[in-house]
Amino acid sequence: MRANDGAMSGSANGADPIIEIDDLSVHFPVEEGTLKAIDGVSFSIAERQMFGLIGESGCGKTVTAQSLMRLVPKPGQIVGGSINFHSETGSTVDLAQLDMSGPEIRAIRGNEIAMIFQEPMSSLSPIHSIGNQLMEAIRLHVTSSKREAYKIALEMLNLVGISNPAQRMEEYPHHFSGGMRQRVMIAMALSCQPRLLIADEPTTALDVTVQAQILDLIAQSQAQFKMAVLYITHDLGIIAEICDQVAVMYLGRIVEYGSVRDIFHNPLHPYTRRLLASTPRIGQRTSRLESIEGTVPIPVNLPHACGFCSRCPDLIDGSCDIAVPALVEIEQDHYVRCFLHDSRREAIA
Ligand SMILES: Nc1ncnc2c1ncn2[C@@H]1O[C@H](COP(=O)(O)OP(=O)(O)OP(=O)(O)O)[C@@H](O)[C@H]1O
Ligand code: SF4
Ligand SMILES: [Mg+2]
Repeated sequence: MRANDGAMSGSANGADPIIEIDDLSVHFPVEEGTLKAIDGVSFSIAERQMFGLIGESGCGKTVTAQSLMRLVPKPGQIVGGSINFHSETGSTVDLAQLDMSGPEIRAIRGNEIAMIFQEPMSSLSPIHSIGNQLMEAIRLHVTSSKREAYKIALEMLNLVGISNPAQRMEEYPHHFSGGMRQRVMIAMALSCQPRLLIADEPTTALDVTVQAQILDLIAQSQAQFKMAVLYITHDLGIIAEICDQVAVMYLGRIVEYGSVRDIFHNPLHPYTRRLLASTPRIGQRTSRLESIEGTVPIPVNLPHACGFCSRCPDLIDGSCDIAVPALVEIEQDHYVRCFLHDSRREAIA
């Protein structure tokens, strides 16, 4: 058993890491004090890995993704930690140190690392045709030739299952259904053949049938383009279906981390157990699903204690309410942050 002393391996598929996040902290100054959206997060994603990040609303999933893209909205700021990205050129760059709008991050963002968002309308311009938006992204990173960019755009729309792509290129986002817009976003993200795709709850706004189609499309694209994927969701069912490794996030911290098998068959953190108890399982008859009592607190001026202590049925008085547990490797590549499993305290103020 050992305390985590760096970005966790995440290389269950035996591949090299593509990105290593170590002790990342992101704060937003707010009227009442400092909102600690991300508070010392570490994990790493291997090449070609499907990595799931799960947690309830407000846990810090999106801010984690924004940090990787260097898109944390102001006045939010990365205040600590590193994000080492291993570029295709063979060099390693700490994204946390880059100027948010400088040439280095612009060469990586939308190119080596691409992102699809929960609501595609927020990232598609309503006043430009789908074709122009797609071609602009391609011309920025792949080819300056308009003719070549048009050809790639057509191919990508075909690939994501949009029929009659030449005509659809002329149309505007409002002519597309939610599912079709999400397909366009995926086409845009894939057009530069990213090595890491971040999908931030890309199916939550869609109905169940379309959700399944988009999930299939992401899984197929991952295999075809040999990408790593960071899949963000609050749905454990999706994680079980498509991911290899999972990090469970609560209140800006990773509380459990391991393979899908570990998390589903041997969940150790009380929060993970509650999440699982509140997830319907096919073939399992339950009279009712348990819900997790209470809500995620706002991370401003919180006491120095385990983040889950206000909702935890297993709280240990005199430990959980006065110290933050360390993230500890309990079994090989299975990490947990909880005093039930280890009495080590994290040395943070
Ligand atoms: N622009 C912002 N200004 C201030 N606080 C923010 C901002 N964006 C996020 N936060 C805060 O940071 C914390 C983490 O938010 P985040 O959006 O990452 O959660 P999430 O896990 O993605 O939730 P959801 O499942 O609802 O998308 C929350 O407390 C949120 O209120
Ligand atoms: S450290 Fe204590 S309060 Fe936190 S999850 Fe574990 S038992 Fe519950
Ligand atoms: Mg979010």
